[in-house]
Amino acid sequence: MKLEKMDAFFAARLNGYDEHMMTEIEGAQEFYPCTAALLPLEQEVNVLDLGCGTGLELEYYFALNGSASVVGIDLSADMLAALKRKFANRKINLICGSYFDVLFGANRFDAAVSVESLHHFTAAQKLKLYRKLHAALTDSGYFVLTDYFAESEEAERFYFFELERLKSGQGLEPHALYHYDTPLTVEHEIEVLKKAGFSDVRIMGNWKATSTLLAR
Ligand SMILES: C[S@@+](CC[C@H](N)C(=O)[O-])C[C@H]1O[C@@H](n2cnc3c(N)ncnc32)[C@H](O)[C@@H]1O
Repeated sequence: MKLEKMDAFFAARLNGYDEHMMTEIEGAQEFYPCTAALLPLEQEVNVLDLGCGTGLELEYYFALNGSASVVGIDLSADMLAALKRKFANRKINLICGSYFDVLFGANRFDAAVSVESLHHFTAAQKLKLYRKLHAALTDSGYFVLTDYFAESEEAERFYFFELERLKSGQGLEPHALYHYDTPLTVEHEIEVLKKAGFSDVRIMGNWKATSTLLAR
């Protein structure tokens, strides 16, 4: 398997992306609306979306709260362009970049969301990211994470081992972002979120490999 850079991987699959997600990912018909329903429904709230892609979760969210202002971050300019075409009349600020590098600011978001994006990264990368995210949320702010999780610790170790094996075998840059699924177990994800400062983390739903966590 030849690894592709993360942004190039998604740009190359943009055509038919939404249909693929909604029909091929088990539970998608339920977890997108479920994720959206957990986001704040009050008027004029500020929401951050990490890895917003073409905005599938935002379609459901804007249907519930058209007054929300959303900052969406994604590595792929092509995915963001598709998102922009869908939501011409919504309050959206799109940032093309990595959520590991973009500054989030302090105390400014009522909620954050991320769907099917963070399962490519290590616990150490997530810890730094979640600390930054925690600081960017208001006192009552919270994070809704819907993602793909490893079925066991053994599987988690295997995915990380495989990624390193493929990267070194293909002579790839050690710090560049390549598309390869390295999900943590739900238990490890919760540990990282708690270490980053979220005191209350609950599992709100589960659809085969995908779960929704609510971190306060
Ligand atoms: C499977 S898509 C999910 C998109 C959308 N949330 C959805 O559920 O349809 C994963 C997205 O995460 C983005 N992504 C991956 N790593 C990222 C990073 N470090 N910073 C920003 N976006 C990233 C990809 O470019 C891609 O658009």
